[in-house]
Amino acid sequence: MHKTRDSFGSKFGAIAALAGSAVGLGNIWKFPYEAGNNGGGAFLIIYIFFTLAIGLPIMLSEFALGRRGQQNAFGTFKTLAPGSKWYLFGLLSIIAAAFILSFYGTVSGWTLEYVWLAISGAFHHQTAEGIHDTFNTFISHPYKAVIWQVSFMVITGAIIVAGVKKGIERYTKMMMPVLFVIVILLGIRASTLPGAGEGLKFLFYPDFSKLTGQSVLSALGQAFFSLSLGMGVLLTYASYIRKTENLAHISLQVITTDTLVAILSGIAILPAVFSFGIDPQAGPGLVFLTLPQVFQSMPLGYFWAILFFILLTFAALTSAISLMEVVVAYLVEEKKMSRLKATITTTSGIGLLGIFCTLSFGPLQNIRFFGLSIFDTFDFVSSNILLPLGGILICIFAGWRLDKSILCDEISNEGRLKFKFFRLYAFILKYVAPICIFVILLNSMGILK
Ligand code: PHE
Repeated sequence: MHKTRDSFGSKFGAIAALAGSAVGLGNIWKFPYEAGNNGGGAFLIIYIFFTLAIGLPIMLSEFALGRRGQQNAFGTFKTLAPGSKWYLFGLLSIIAAAFILSFYGTVSGWTLEYVWLAISGAFHHQTAEGIHDTFNTFISHPYKAVIWQVSFMVITGAIIVAGVKKGIERYTKMMMPVLFVIVILLGIRASTLPGAGEGLKFLFYPDFSKLTGQSVLSALGQAFFSLSLGMGVLLTYASYIRKTENLAHISLQVITTDTLVAILSGIAILPAVFSFGIDPQAGPGLVFLTLPQVFQSMPLGYFWAILFFILLTFAALTSAISLMEVVVAYLVEEKKMSRLKATITTTSGIGLLGIFCTLSFGPLQNIRFFGLSIFDTFDFVSSNILLPLGGILICIFAGWRLDKSILCDEISNEGRLKFKFFRLYAFILKYVAPICIFVILLNSMGILK
């Protein structure tokens, strides 16, 4: 059918692309403060447990479905469950990806502005208020943030249009190692700052008294978002993985990289935050509001700031690419568009939606849905509803609907590889994972407090 379908040319390329999707803004700003707020080491243990016990089996299932289907998310379900309505789930995940990319583009645009600000030395000799003003004026500006957001989308589109091997694989293979080196350098620098011990303690000391039901759920939600599960991203990328690769190994490698970068980001950010007496609970604003302050009072801070915001941009870009590919693959394969036309359509469509998200910090801040701004609505609906829903549906489809032999064949490369844990995997997929996710879903909709 799709005779000349593009694919990842090497195992490293596949891992770089997949890990690139997983490692994103979620790891660098969200993980450190979530961990710190929810009992440090105690949160870490639970987070790692969920990642391995629930994230890994779902990731492996998405890989198996995607590589089996050899198509976009919509086509995969149409082929694997012919005559059923499962293709609607494929469609839902494509819509979820478009939604996430819309608001992800807003924050990614901010990271580009901050690379520019860092290069132009804008944080030099700034007071804390000055840095706050810079941020607030920027995000509420009538067009500045929009220009950066649109530029970010165009860069993402330019990589996508070049194809899977020559675009996605080529660029993620370059960006991921650089990202890894930068986060290690920043980690070393931060942990040698005076008073850094406090930050490391915040991250690693297991304070079980801070662990509540809510934090257990946060750990599961964080694991889900961070691993890019449940929205057709891993499924679409997996359709480009060669039939000879070992899917179980790849999922383990992607998960290890994602967790490692999250921990390294914690090591890079928290000691600096403590060493300069900043409140680690500043949340999402932490990176944009407090880190420039940290960098400007650090020796050679000018360079560290540039490095840090480049790191953030790379992390955002490799995730954005994976989200855009979900939509583009659908348009190319189902709507028979050329890759160029599909990319232009997607970039403009999502770029336009994203403009509303971006402007909701400024001119459109009074437009509210149930009290949430446009940006927050997009974030809430996709992260808290569509994403867990996608996860449950993957479990139901792979665990209950699909013939077990198909999963087994795909994971074992038609019996050529041994997969000792198949029973355990199938058990988690059928029972443990969907129930756990159902609980988060109820919680995030406020039904379970
Ligand atoms: N995993 C990415 C992060 O940690 C975000 C993302 C979610 C990317 C869903 C793709 C799909 O930031």
